[in-house]
Amino acid sequence: MGSTVNSPSTPIIIPSSPLQTSFIPKTSQLSIFKKKKPFNFASKKLVSCKASDRNQNNADSSSLNRFDRRDILLGLGGLYGATNLVSDPFASAAPIAAPDLSLCENSTVTSSSSGTSISVPCCPPKATNIIDFKPPRFSNIRLRPAAHLVDANYFEKFTKAMELMKALPDDDPRSFKQQANVHCAYCNGAYDHVGFPDQQLQIHFSWLFFPFHRFYLYFYERILGKLIGDPNFAMPFWNWDSPPGMVIPDIYVDPTSPLYDEKRNVDHQPPKMLDLDYAGTEELLSKRDQIKSNLSVMYRQMVTYKTPSLFHGAAYRAGDNPSPGMGSVENNPHTAVHRWVGDKREPFSEDMGNFYSAGRDPLFYAHHCNVDRLWNIWKSLPGKKRTDFTDTDWLDSSFIFYDENANLVRVKVRDCLNSRTLGYDYQKVNIPWLKNKPTPRRPGRGSGSGSAMAAETNTKTVIRNAFPIVLDKLVRIEIPRTKKSRTKVEKENEEEVLVLQNIRVDRDVAVKFDVYINDEDDETPTEPEDSEFAGSFTNIPHNHHNPGVKLDTNLTLPLSDLLEDLDIERDDNIVVTLVPKEGKGLVSIGNIKIDFVRD
Ligand code: C2O
Repeated sequence: MGSTVNSPSTPIIIPSSPLQTSFIPKTSQLSIFKKKKPFNFASKKLVSCKASDRNQNNADSSSLNRFDRRDILLGLGGLYGATNLVSDPFASAAPIAAPDLSLCENSTVTSSSSGTSISVPCCPPKATNIIDFKPPRFSNIRLRPAAHLVDANYFEKFTKAMELMKALPDDDPRSFKQQANVHCAYCNGAYDHVGFPDQQLQIHFSWLFFPFHRFYLYFYERILGKLIGDPNFAMPFWNWDSPPGMVIPDIYVDPTSPLYDEKRNVDHQPPKMLDLDYAGTEELLSKRDQIKSNLSVMYRQMVTYKTPSLFHGAAYRAGDNPSPGMGSVENNPHTAVHRWVGDKREPFSEDMGNFYSAGRDPLFYAHHCNVDRLWNIWKSLPGKKRTDFTDTDWLDSSFIFYDENANLVRVKVRDCLNSRTLGYDYQKVNIPWLKNKPTPRRPGRGSGSGSAMAAETNTKTVIRNAFPIVLDKLVRIEIPRTKKSRTKVEKENEEEVLVLQNIRVDRDVAVKFDVYINDEDDETPTEPEDSEFAGSFTNIPHNHHNPGVKLDTNLTLPLSDLLEDLDIERDDNIVVTLVPKEGKGLVSIGNIKIDFVRD
């Protein structure tokens, strides 16, 4: 790395060169492309690629491995010279199947900082009879209310339902405990991909995030409704994207209520304002500034992400390595809310601060209802690409849940795309963030700032061949752009994006680092309300079964609006600043490049 030559406060500045910014596959990986011989299906077993090799690979090569795997899966031969992964000829061949419950294993939860480790049994009760889900006919739409607006009558009903759920015996799949375990099992390596015993299923960090949680909440709500004999019962959402909702809703804070959870950050009780840019430490912002910051986070994550993959996350198919890349809302503010609520005194930041325990806090479900509501809102915003995927690997991905009658039900993503099909929608409330577009820090500064940066660069340490970068301090890198001054139509057709590849970190570490574009001011911190703030990368601690294998994922940030706002669309390069906020020194980044997203 050569980072020893820098004092901790000196940024590392890395000029880009074609060699550094383009990925060069290893010869062994390239050989996949050369393989043109017809494939003899009978001579190979139906197995996944060696997990250990695959986990060493980067994003590009895991796509290569997918070809390799599909050769095996389909018994097909040549790759049709398919170097263009967008037109993957096998793209509709590998939806993720619902896990096999009989193969479920305990989860191991670890903390790399303290070295502690526990084994958590979070597998559901076993059952052999599985029903395929058909959305029931609903005579009316259940309206999920904002938690801070509910009346006494609703509060009483909801409390009663939660009380009854908590009173169910632990081995009832509808009990509070078993329902919390659903999240633990799907998020902490309890299941493998069917047919791929080396690949643990992870429903975060990919396009499965929104549909999985939608179904999870759907069954939770149906169970609560059944327990109080009210099929029209709808769960509340935590309206944290609007100022009156930016505290923990009152109904969750009475210690005697079944909605209470004692494992929450004691400093974050009402009237403490939620920080949607939370990085593990308290920012002492005024209420007004906190609101502004939160609304800017919302604007950026909702409005500037304009395509299905930017919003939902990266494609994730049967046999793929887990965690290919998060979508906008999952990354932020979803993570911030988990981390902000979780109790830092607990060994694993329970409950909300770790995937294994998050479902033990009743607030989790209100949090996720709001995430789910944002999916509906995102699709209603203007823009012809604000749609769901049409890829059948996504549509046919499936999960398994127990329903309100304790029957095991297999669901498919295609059945949850419209919440009204599932019989519910959300109470309409104001959406204040739509008017909170970030602004440049110094108006007019954007144009030509690339050269200002170059001049400054000369006075600081320059490190070559620095990838992978270890994020132990602020890092600046110049990244070349391949297309400049694009027309409006070109921008509508393809979003220019910044891709950070092979972000590696232990899964059980909380992480946040920020990414700024053409931001050379080291004196005053860049905030979410600044156009230069391109986004953040975050991780909620969680585990898989192989603790030695790191999370290896990618971050894709949209740039088109930002380049326009900073007036730097004509520039040859952008300067990317990476600022570690939480998990300093524990994250490495394999490569950074500009790309174009068309989906
Ligand atoms: Cu499945 Cu908010 O996490």
